[in-house]
Amino acid sequence: MEQALRVLLVEDSEDDALLVARQIRKGGYELITWRVDSASGVRAAIGDQEWDVVVADYSMPGFNGLEALEILKESGLDVPFILISGTIGEETAVQAMKAGASDYLMKDNLMRLVPAIERELREAFMRRSKRRAEAERITLIERLQQALEARDEFLLIASHELRTPLTSLKLHIQLMKRVESQALPPEAKVNRREELLANLERQLERLTLLVEKLLDVSRITAGQLSLEISECDLSDLARKAIAALREDLTKANCRVRLRADSPVVGHWDSLRLEQILVNLLENAVKYAENSAITVTVESRGPNARLIVQDRGPGIAKADQERLFRRFERASSANHVGGLGLGLFIIKKIVDAHGGTIGLESARGQGAKFTIEIPKREALRAAS
Ligand SMILES: Nc1ncnc2c1ncn2[C@@H]1O[C@H](COP(=O)(O)OP(=O)(O)O)[C@@H](O)[C@H]1O
Ligand SMILES: [Mg+2]
Repeated sequence: MEQALRVLLVEDSEDDALLVARQIRKGGYELITWRVDSASGVRAAIGDQEWDVVVADYSMPGFNGLEALEILKESGLDVPFILISGTIGEETAVQAMKAGASDYLMKDNLMRLVPAIERELREAFMRRSKRRAEAERITLIERLQQALEARDEFLLIASHELRTPLTSLKLHIQLMKRVESQALPPEAKVNRREELLANLERQLERLTLLVEKLLDVSRITAGQLSLEISECDLSDLARKAIAALREDLTKANCRVRLRADSPVVGHWDSLRLEQILVNLLENAVKYAENSAITVTVESRGPNARLIVQDRGPGIAKADQERLFRRFERASSANHVGGLGLGLFIIKKIVDAHGGTIGLESARGQGAKFTIEIPKREALRAAS
């Protein structure tokens, strides 16, 4: 099959255009062409479709090849441009090459036309490949830079967060040593030791949770969030999460209401969904003390919807989007500890389930997180 060649002909003479066309067909190409002979014609043709090559007559009444070349260069397109003339002088030829023409030929010697086109096509292809490789190289470097920055930030925050429980551990060990050297009745010593040990254990647990969270985030960031899908009831998960946080909620004087009357069943990763619930409730405990919290679980056609709403201080509009990114926190949260990872993890889990998360809030108006995830029953039925 013949290869198609898209040639834009800038030529006023029909006969000369036919000569060029014949030459190209003789070279074994199927020709797709337009003939134009004015500036507006050139603009329309290059705006309308892609061209492999432009072949232009040097002089036409009211227009010339160099002007056509200028229009092509202005458009930023990288299309080979071959100038043809009946009487091209050396000076004009030099001028044309300087202006960016790929080649020039004499009208009475078109033998060179097809080889010239073929050479220019090869070169244009090389230029394109080079440009693509360069663009890829730049993207790669940018991505590497971002990864390095994220790593540094991660290390900074992680070491800062880990230092707090570590300091406390050290303190408790010093206190333990002191108990040994203190002149206390044996029973008091035992009690004191037990009390300190219980504290130590709590600190260790906190440390373990922190390390686990950090590991989880680096795994998720590396794109390794794999779901373990099974059939589960979101209402039940909500009930469990509220129960697990009951003590903290009471301490923060948060009254929780669960509105989930019937089971809302779907195919999800139950541990990950519980993580969403726990993270949202933990945030309510931390940022919306003394407020009423409503957890709603509903079935909405093919989706399940989970809403966690509090009546706390809310989140300013300007902060809302960025808080779903790694390590992002609102300045109003400075008084409470946190890594700024909860909402990031939540978003990743929701994404992995093919769902969406929305936040409605304004400063002083409480925060309302709405999550919708497909139940995926249909998916299972199909497979
Ligand atoms: N219910 C809420 N009310 C007000 N602000 C919130 C609430 N939930 C989250 N935020 C804000 O979003 C930030 C990010 O939350 P999150 O990703 O869970 O990280 P962390 O709790 O560790 O700071 C918090 O620091 C806080 O500023
Ligand atoms: Mg949080």
